[in-house]
Amino acid sequence: MQVIKTIKKMQATSLNLKRTRASIGFVPTMGALHEGHLSLIRRSRRENDVTVVSIFVNPIQFGPSEDLNRYPRPLQQDLRLCMQEKVEYVFCPRPEDMYPEGFKTFVEVRELGAVLCGASRPTHFRGVTTVVAKLFNAVFPDRAYFGQKDCQQAVIIERMARDLNFPVMIEVLPIIRERSGLALSSRNAYLDPAQKKDALVLSKALSSAAVLIRGGTRDAARIKRVIRTMVSAAHSVKIDYIAIVDKQTLKPVKKIQDSCLIALAMWIGKTRLIDNIVVNAQNRKAG
Ligand code: PAF
Repeated sequence: MQVIKTIKKMQATSLNLKRTRASIGFVPTMGALHEGHLSLIRRSRRENDVTVVSIFVNPIQFGPSEDLNRYPRPLQQDLRLCMQEKVEYVFCPRPEDMYPEGFKTFVEVRELGAVLCGASRPTHFRGVTTVVAKLFNAVFPDRAYFGQKDCQQAVIIERMARDLNFPVMIEVLPIIRERSGLALSSRNAYLDPAQKKDALVLSKALSSAAVLIRGGTRDAARIKRVIRTMVSAAHSVKIDYIAIVDKQTLKPVKKIQDSCLIALAMWIGKTRLIDNIVVNAQNRKAG
C-alpha cells in the first residue's frame, strides 16, 4: 500500500494507472474509518483493478461553530485498516495543498444544497462538492463510492458529477448499522452510553414510519407526527428536522405515492446525528 501526500503525486500515479488501462475505484473519506467505509472499500476492490481511499478532514465543510477541531483523526488505525483491506493507495493531502493561499473557487449545487441539512448548515454542501470535485481531479476515478447514510450528499454529488461532466460513475451503497439499529457514523464516538441509547430512537422511528407507510398510511404529516412523538420521548434528543421528500429532488412530499425518502437530523447533546430510510409504498413487505 502506498500513502500519497500531494495532489501532484496522486495525479501522476492515477495517470500512470490509466495508461495501463487499470480501472480506478475511489472511496473519499474523512478518516475515522468504520464498517460503513469498509463496505465501500470492499465494493470498490471487487469492481475495480485499483482502489484509492482518501483521508482528509475537509475544513471548508464545517461551519464556524462545528466540530472541525474535535473531529476524530486516528490516522495510524485508518492506515492499518486500509492495509488489511488491501487498498492500493491512500491519498492524505494536507489542508495547505488542497486550499493554498488565495483559494477562491467553489462548486455549489443550487437548491439541493439548501434544504434538509443545508438549512441548518448553510455552507456545508458547497464545502463537500468543492472538495469532492478537487479529489476527482486528483484521483481521476472510474467509479466513486458513497454511503446512503449521507443521502443528501449522495444526491448532490450525483447531480454535480452529471452537471460538470465528471467521467465517473457514482455508486451509493446501503447504510451499515449496529445490531441495535444505530447507523454507523464517525460521530457516534462522541456519544456516552446513555446518549447512545437515546440515539436508537432515530432508527426506531424510521422503522415505525416505514411500517405505517407499508400498512397504507399515505399522509406525510401524520407520519411526521408519529416520528416526532417517538423521538421526543428520548430526553437528550433535540429535533433538527424530520423530512419526507422525493428521493431525487429532495422536495417535500405531502401524500406518499410510490417511494419516498424519510430523513432525520437530531441533536444528542452536542452531537448532531442523521439517519434515513427509503420506503417503497407499493411494497408491503420490504422498502
Ligand atoms: O462523507 C464524507 O466523509 C465527506 O463528506 C466526504 C465525501 C469525504 C467529503 O469530505
